[in-house]
Amino acid sequence: MVIRASWRVVGETSEQMEITNVMEYEALAREKLPKMVYDYYASGAEDQWTLKENRNAFSKIMFRPRILVDVSKIDTDTSVLGFKISSPIMIAPTAMQKMAHPEGELATARAASSAGTIMTLSSWATSSIEEVASTAPGIRFFQLYVTKDRSIVTHLVKRAENAGYKAIALTVDTPRLGRREADIKNRFALPYNLTLKNYKKLNLATIDETNDSGLASFVANQIDRSLSWKDVKWLRTITNLPILVKGVLTAEDAALAIQAGAAGIIVSNHGARQLDYVPVTIMALEEVARAAQGRVPVFLDGGIRRGTDVFKAIALGASGVFIGRPVVFSLAVDGEAGVRKVLQMLRDEFELTMALSGCRSIKEITRSRIQVPGDTPPVTSRL
Ligand code: FNR
Ligand code: LAC
Repeated sequence: MVIRASWRVVGETSEQMEITNVMEYEALAREKLPKMVYDYYASGAEDQWTLKENRNAFSKIMFRPRILVDVSKIDTDTSVLGFKISSPIMIAPTAMQKMAHPEGELATARAASSAGTIMTLSSWATSSIEEVASTAPGIRFFQLYVTKDRSIVTHLVKRAENAGYKAIALTVDTPRLGRREADIKNRFALPYNLTLKNYKKLNLATIDETNDSGLASFVANQIDRSLSWKDVKWLRTITNLPILVKGVLTAEDAALAIQAGAAGIIVSNHGARQLDYVPVTIMALEEVARAAQGRVPVFLDGGIRRGTDVFKAIALGASGVFIGRPVVFSLAVDGEAGVRKVLQMLRDEFELTMALSGCRSIKEITRSRIQVPGDTPPVTSRL
């Protein structure tokens, strides 16, 4: 089925533009969204160096395709924490999705459900844990921000458990908010008609205008800056759900995460929105995966925009990837259908990449299928 953008693009007449890749959604979303919202979704921290490199780095990795392999059948299925999904492409938590589209997180959840993949719901969603759980069947994870008031954390985790979420993604890279200059200039605040639905009865449901980024002030007031490894252990005492530590960039922290009882690690630089000049995730992945030594699965997010990116991440040791901005931009352009189309395009591109490089299943995507700067090609190849 061909899905087209639901409105006309400047410069085009009655013809609607056919969307053929994930990046095109960003340009269309920019035209459609209020500037404050687009800037919030798109921004990285400070010089946005890591933001640009998160993408550039993928282009430095080449394939070592194998030929004359029977690729008449390609299987993109995989399993994550024991749950079978249709491809290793999952949805990262992104806050406040109703700024993009009136159906917000509910549309995203339905798109993930029909694509047969996992959605991670942000603590700071504009739809509640329960609303998202009841909108469609599917496997969901809940992303957790740890507030100073621990009774709120316990309450959220219990609600996620009761609503059938299957894992907690604990975000560990945000003791304070990174400096996003556009949000400061725009005096970012949550539009008055929306609330952070999970905090509705807790008096923390609005992000008000301040003379800074409203979100930076919210984080400064609410988030527990003292969060440390002992709190990962504490979290394990209040839930039996598996805990994924989101925001690991070094081998040292990967080892500590496993020691603390993490069930998985997400290599993430928060979409380059926190500390600028941190390593791009695709380059940090191999060191983390080596440190994990297969004891827990390692995932990656940051800059995934093509099926080829997904393949490269898997070859470097990821069990799966998460996408952030492509979801909010496609949601803004075309709601649930937009997010479905993004998931479909990425999966199709990934499947084609597998076929053209001679891999029939995820387990055939090994390190020898790619070439990273500095690699020395093998003299003889192992069959
Ligand atoms: C995020 N991210 C994020 N992470 C998190 O743990 N909780 C959150 O609420 C949010 N919110 C959020 C909002 C927006 C607008 C963006 C762009 C990102 C980070 C997100 O989960 C993920 O790490 C990155 O988005 C991945 O990078 P890409 O795919 O956006 O390049
Ligand atoms: C962000 C927060 C909400 O990146 O995680 O904007």
